[in-house]
Amino acid sequence: HDHLLGIEGLKPWEIAFLLDEADRWSNPENTRLREGALTGLTQINAFFENSTRTLVSFEIAGKRLGADVVSMAVGASSVKKGETLLDTALTLNAMHPDVLVIRHEAAGAVALIASKVDCPVLNAGDGAHEHPTQALLDALTIRHRKGRLTGLKIAICGDILHSRVARSNFHLLASMGADVRAVAPPTLMPPALDQFGISATTSMETGLKDADVVMMLRLQRERMQGSYLPSEREYFRFYGLTEERLAHAADDVLVMHPGPMNRGVEIATSVADDIQRSAITEQVEMGVAVRMACLDVLTRRIRGLEGWA
Ligand code: CP
Repeated sequence: HDHLLGIEGLKPWEIAFLLDEADRWSNPENTRLREGALTGLTQINAFFENSTRTLVSFEIAGKRLGADVVSMAVGASSVKKGETLLDTALTLNAMHPDVLVIRHEAAGAVALIASKVDCPVLNAGDGAHEHPTQALLDALTIRHRKGRLTGLKIAICGDILHSRVARSNFHLLASMGADVRAVAPPTLMPPALDQFGISATTSMETGLKDADVVMMLRLQRERMQGSYLPSEREYFRFYGLTEERLAHAADDVLVMHPGPMNRGVEIATSVADDIQRSAITEQVEMGVAVRMACLDVLTRRIRGLEGWA
């Protein structure tokens, strides 16, 4: 089956194809259209980790395409009674869904499920590994606002070590020819980023210099068991995105954040709410278009159409 488990391994033309498809759905006239491409298909969203944006936008995307969408509430499911992940997956598979959308706290869990079920699987975030539809919606937002990805100076700042959003974005943006910089405290910087063509710095001022796009990340405390946890005040002082720090970037800089945002921790409220520079709301809007495109493209083969890639 056609799955979308990560951005790593996708060819530039495959990324561009998904972005072009999503572009179609991002047109306001099409976003509200119920085209019926997925009519008669059953989509199950199984989110083993919390979500607002990804879950709701996958639900809306499926419904706008005419699918019967079922979202499993993990908190109220038999997962809480000790059922294993694979048993839960095989149980869902036995109900013959046509597409599964899965989020899980363990890296690799979604790929494991994909290897056991009989339908396309979309990764809605697995641990600190990948969040492919987030990187696609970020890229679509940048393309809309800047007209391109190639050659742009893009700073990705904050808790990079624990961020699946950063990993997916690194793969996508480097593959599409952007100049990508990672900015993080030494304790939250993964090693050897240069092998992916990413430059690394611990200084916000250096990383933000002349940047066309600044992408902020949340401190992911849920993934920091036992490791160094900065205080919020300390973190904001050195790594918070303030007006002063943003002045180092290009005049027409675009500020992004995947959400959920922690105001006063990684980003100042005045920057988050800056209507000219912040694309945070547009990112959410593009999320629906990207998820419509991914659901459409990945189910083409089971709808008797030519498959993807
Ligand atoms: N960006 C993102 O994945 O948000 P949610 O956790 O709310 O889905």
